[in-house]
Amino acid sequence: MKLLDGRTAIITGAGQGIGLAIAGVFAAHGARLVVADVNPDAADAAAEALSDSGAQAVSVRCDVTVEEQVEGLVGTAVGRYGALDVLVSNAGITRDATLRTMTAAQFREVMDVHLLGTWLGMKYAAPHMRERRSGAIVNISSISGKVGLPGQTNYSAAKAGVVGMTKAAAKELAHRGVRVNAIQPGLVRTAMTEALRPEVWQEKLAGVPMGRAAEPAEIGTVALFLASDLSSYMTGAVLEVTGGRHM
Ligand SMILES: NC(=O)c1ccc[n+]([C@@H]2O[C@H](COP(=O)([O-])OP(=O)(O)OC[C@H]3O[C@@H](n4cnc5c(N)ncnc54)[C@H](O)[C@@H]3O)[C@@H](O)[C@H]2O)c1
Repeated sequence: MKLLDGRTAIITGAGQGIGLAIAGVFAAHGARLVVADVNPDAADAAAEALSDSGAQAVSVRCDVTVEEQVEGLVGTAVGRYGALDVLVSNAGITRDATLRTMTAAQFREVMDVHLLGTWLGMKYAAPHMRERRSGAIVNISSISGKVGLPGQTNYSAAKAGVVGMTKAAAKELAHRGVRVNAIQPGLVRTAMTEALRPEVWQEKLAGVPMGRAAEPAEIGTVALFLASDLSSYMTGAVLEVTGGRHM
């Protein structure tokens, strides 16, 4: 059973990591993909690989912090495929530092990508979905936004904010047939976490009851659930995908 047959999905930050894995899972379920990333080479390579595997995929260079680029991204999806059914706001960065050393610029940068970026995505995607009385938005938060992690005052605040805006938007859009949900991944094996010092990685791993990190596709399958009709009566939900960490 293909859960996204013929549906158009935008995934931001899809050039690598979790976003790329979500794109792969969606492609296997028949979605037509718009692969967006601030890194154009990564976006192009991802779209090419997806096309080679038989999916319909187009790449768009998009910095989610730039309003015109997000508006253009949604325009590309609708222009190319005639509709927009799914938006996954996944683009993300970390600028970890203690309160003592974190700069205001590092704080703002993280706010911009996660909060402004996710908000712009919803702002420009929602009108198309409202009009057709159908759509699913999936915002990628983090377990850091639930529990707060040291060295991440910026990131924890931003990811908690993603939960707040997910619930607010879910309430605004529910009566128009548009669902908005969020995922809070725990420790996932990607470039973002491979940058962690080995002792920090081990410390995080020790806190995972399942005893291992997630593979990116394990976030992809939960995104598929929220993007598809399998979750047709869910909105404003926040799903923890953590192997039990910080439950
Ligand atoms: N890896 C983890 O353990 C983990 C845990 C919880 C949440 N997350 C979240 O999952 C998402 C994906 O993380 P990942 O681990 O795959 O990271 P990653 O660094 O491997 O990939 C992030 C992607 O986002 C893109 N990106 C960054 N800034 C952008 C911008 N302004 N506009 C468009 N694209 C931009 C990057 O170019 C990159 O391709 C992020 O929102 C992250 O905060 C990750």
